[in-house]
Amino acid sequence: MTDAVPLSFYEEIGGHDTFVRLVDAFYRGVAEDEVLKPMYPEEDLGPAKERLTLFLEQYWGGPTTYSETRGHPRLRMRHAPFHVNPDARDRWLAHMRVAVDELELPPLHEATLWDYLLRAAHAMVNTFEPTGIGPTSSGRDGGSLPLHPST
Ligand code: HEM
Repeated sequence: MTDAVPLSFYEEIGGHDTFVRLVDAFYRGVAEDEVLKPMYPEEDLGPAKERLTLFLEQYWGGPTTYSETRGHPRLRMRHAPFHVNPDARDRWLAHMRVAVDELELPPLHEATLWDYLLRAAHAMVNTFEPTGIGPTSSGRDGGSLPLHPST
């Protein structure tokens, strides 16, 4: 076929099965994490797992089910209720690193996926407070990243 449409990254790395494996492995780590596990509002991590899978599939060119069911991702806003400090970020990334390794992707694909996850996780940090239940724990927006240098 000469008129073939180039594969999306989603397809290149194995489609739905690959994303399910990635997110399953990631949540096995989260379930054992004493800092991250209590952050999840639902005892059952199944629905959170589903949301992350759908989001990542959509981001990489797969089905757009995430936006159809959840609307615009607005991930920073959706993480605002949670206390994402550097420790939480590093734990999130450590579990994701194990999960990415389990996929055994070709080096270029692995680097592409990992670079994105690394950047996204750094962008999600919303407080530098060491403890607490959320970025607003010390008052309205207390502890969150300042929006303006003067605040
Ligand atoms: C940096 C550390 C992070 C922490 C501690 C964290 C924690 C959480 C928590 C507690 C939830 C709520 C669970 C739920 O109900 O779905 C959540 C949701 C979610 N997170 Fe994260 N997250 C982090 C980074 C990321 C990154 C880097 C991404 C994307 C690459 C991401 C994607 C999502 C998505 C898609 C949802 C569901 C949003 C929705 O539709 O409601 N998270 N996260």
